[in-house]
Amino acid sequence: VSEPTTITITGAGGQIGYALLFRIAAGDMLGADRPVRLRLLEIPQGMRAAEGAALELQDGAFPLLRGVELTDDPRIAFDGTSIALLVGARPRGPGMERGDLLAANAGIFGPQGAAIGAVAADDVRAVVVGNPANTNALIAAASAAPDVPAERFTALTRLDHNRAVGQLAAFLDVAPDEIADVIIWGNHSATQFPDVAHAVLSDGMPVAEAIAERLGGRDAATTWLDEVFLPRVAKRGAEIIEVRGSSSVASAANAAIDHVRDEQLGTHRGWTSAAVVSHGEYGVPEGLVCSLPVVSRGDGAGYRVIEGLEFDARGRRLFDASVAELAAERDAVRELGAV
Ligand code: NAI
Repeated sequence: VSEPTTITITGAGGQIGYALLFRIAAGDMLGADRPVRLRLLEIPQGMRAAEGAALELQDGAFPLLRGVELTDDPRIAFDGTSIALLVGARPRGPGMERGDLLAANAGIFGPQGAAIGAVAADDVRAVVVGNPANTNALIAAASAAPDVPAERFTALTRLDHNRAVGQLAAFLDVAPDEIADVIIWGNHSATQFPDVAHAVLSDGMPVAEAIAERLGGRDAATTWLDEVFLPRVAKRGAEIIEVRGSSSVASAANAAIDHVRDEQLGTHRGWTSAAVVSHGEYGVPEGLVCSLPVVSRGDGAGYRVIEGLEFDARGRRLFDASVAELAAERDAVRELGAV
């Protein structure tokens, strides 16, 4: 059995934290042969809830769990950590403008990024879940520089990816793992572009063709993709709130686990989606944290972008609109001096 891996979860006293901790302790993220040591970072208001979760973790008697520590100090929380799940964020309050939201979160992700730069392990990788996730990742990466390469910071769009796969699987009446190479392009927001142009079924049939076959033609398939599939995926968060009376929690935790597991241990069939630091791929301005198709070999090098895919005019337009939103968020946090 290997040495325990230190994992930090911020916002551990919150809803997603509660759904994440037990699955990590059970080995769902790194596998049943990797012991874990958990560090829970909270603010004083969230500390009692995190303490309660820590008591329950003890009561789980998880064989892989080698300790749980709670703190409200990022320098302690990230000390020697190899995997950071940045979940805690400032939600949009009543009357809060977008600029206020970005500023409040810059005040969280700036210091956390700086602490990761100062004290985390050499192999640290961080995924930002807390919204606005892409721009929070940009801020954390900028604050961790130059000690940690920006590429070590990613943001979660795997929930959007999984939502897209879930919709297609239900519509085509196939198992989710029969669908490969769906892509979420852009921002984790309503402007995201869930793209099935490259998606295939396990028998090799393009997903777009399978949809056309079901609906009796290509035009009907295009209409379904534009008017049903895309808005359903992009607005799924709002649908969950409406139906469940609370935001996505277990599915978000599940996606965070998928994201880290694939990054650490490798993707299997085809690619997945993650928001990664752009090096100009697909014309995305360098430095933006943008959702792109990625693979990982599980060799410690993290996610690598799949390049050279083509867009049609509609796809390019949708992607460009989401990238423009990311650029506007970056400009806003630049004005605040956060990046
Ligand atoms: P929650 O409000 O239940 O929990 C957030 C926790 O973070 C609270 O316990 C709070 O005390 C803590 N927190 C706030 N500031 C902190 C700081 N500076 N350091 C450490 N902890 C801090 O919220 P929930 O439902 O767990 O969601 C967390 C975040 O995840 C939200 O920003 C939400 O919008 C986002 N989210 C992102 C998704 C994605 O796909 N990227 C999907 C679903 C949610």
